[in-house]
Amino acid sequence: MKLKIAVLAGDGIGPEIVAQALDVTKAVCQKFGHTLEYKSALVGACAIDAVGDPYPGETHALCMESDAVLFGAIGSPKYDNNPSAKVRPEQGLLAMRQKLGLYANIRPVTTFPSLIHQSPLRAELVEGADFMCIRELTGGIYFGRPQGRSEDGQTAYDTCVYTVMEIERIVRLAYDYAMKRSKRLCIVDKANVLCTSRLWRQVSQQLEKEYPEVATEYMFVDNAAMQIVRGPKHFDVIVTENMFGDILTDEASVITGSLGMLPSASIGVHTSVFEPIHGSYPQAAGKDIANPLATILSAALMFEYAFDLPKEGKAIRDAVAAGMAAGIVTEDIAEGKKAYKTSEVGQWIVKSITN
Ligand code: IPM
Ligand code: MN
Repeated sequence: MKLKIAVLAGDGIGPEIVAQALDVTKAVCQKFGHTLEYKSALVGACAIDAVGDPYPGETHALCMESDAVLFGAIGSPKYDNNPSAKVRPEQGLLAMRQKLGLYANIRPVTTFPSLIHQSPLRAELVEGADFMCIRELTGGIYFGRPQGRSEDGQTAYDTCVYTVMEIERIVRLAYDYAMKRSKRLCIVDKANVLCTSRLWRQVSQQLEKEYPEVATEYMFVDNAAMQIVRGPKHFDVIVTENMFGDILTDEASVITGSLGMLPSASIGVHTSVFEPIHGSYPQAAGKDIANPLATILSAALMFEYAFDLPKEGKAIRDAVAAGMAAGIVTEDIAEGKKAYKTSEVGQWIVKSITN
């Protein structure tokens, strides 16, 4: 098969972790006889610095003509502490999601045997936890208008907007995943307070009738935040709106043991994007210490979701598990033992796939 991918490394640790995921991708292609064609493009702070736009037209054109996008991370402290900056790196990521129509962000949360004791949660609570968070990605308060400041600067506002169409397509997708898994769906909202959440519930209750085999549960987001760490094994598929999903998945990473472990797939209308859920970790940039596994596991999702090549995805997962079992891990999950460099972890996985 011929695989054409766009590589958007972004800022901070992005280039280092993406370099490893790209090497792993090349190794898998070589092993399974696929031809890989890839091109890189700018996104985020580095794109602002170079061309004044965090998601340049050229980058979008490359994404559109590719079969998948491998994405690193964006964000820079240069902009974080500057509330008056006119363009922010994050706008690049949001523009990409919107222009590619990536309305569903799939974030699988699983555990790894060698990491069970790394979680701040008790081992018996997390062992065997395996759920999937489906986050709506192109609506809600991230994109609602109006958004801004009053003229006197004394008031600021964001608007949360959802249409029936937006809710229906994401909840339907979640039901379809629930059907393929343990047939349990938890719909998370704040229907006791928010109007948009009440629309979510109304639309969901209609869809529920079409999936009688699925056990549907509705949960307020504050309660869900507690239940996810109190008993993660309770969950199978969780679906929620954009901002709740952003927050709950960072929280869910403590189940796995490190934010550096969680991959994601963003799918929708155009080319799908595969990216770790963590940020650009600027303090670690250029030091070769960041955990590349979330990005490498995102490459596994790319083979599975974008190319329908499950064996290739599994080869990556197996190599990642083997590396972890052998203790070839970065400092965030080294548990006081020897910590390996980003590149050492990546190249160990490359070798393990090649051999
Ligand atoms: C994520 C990130 C982004 C988000 C930021 C960088 C805009 O936190 O992908 O979860 O909030 O969606
Ligand atoms: Mn986030």
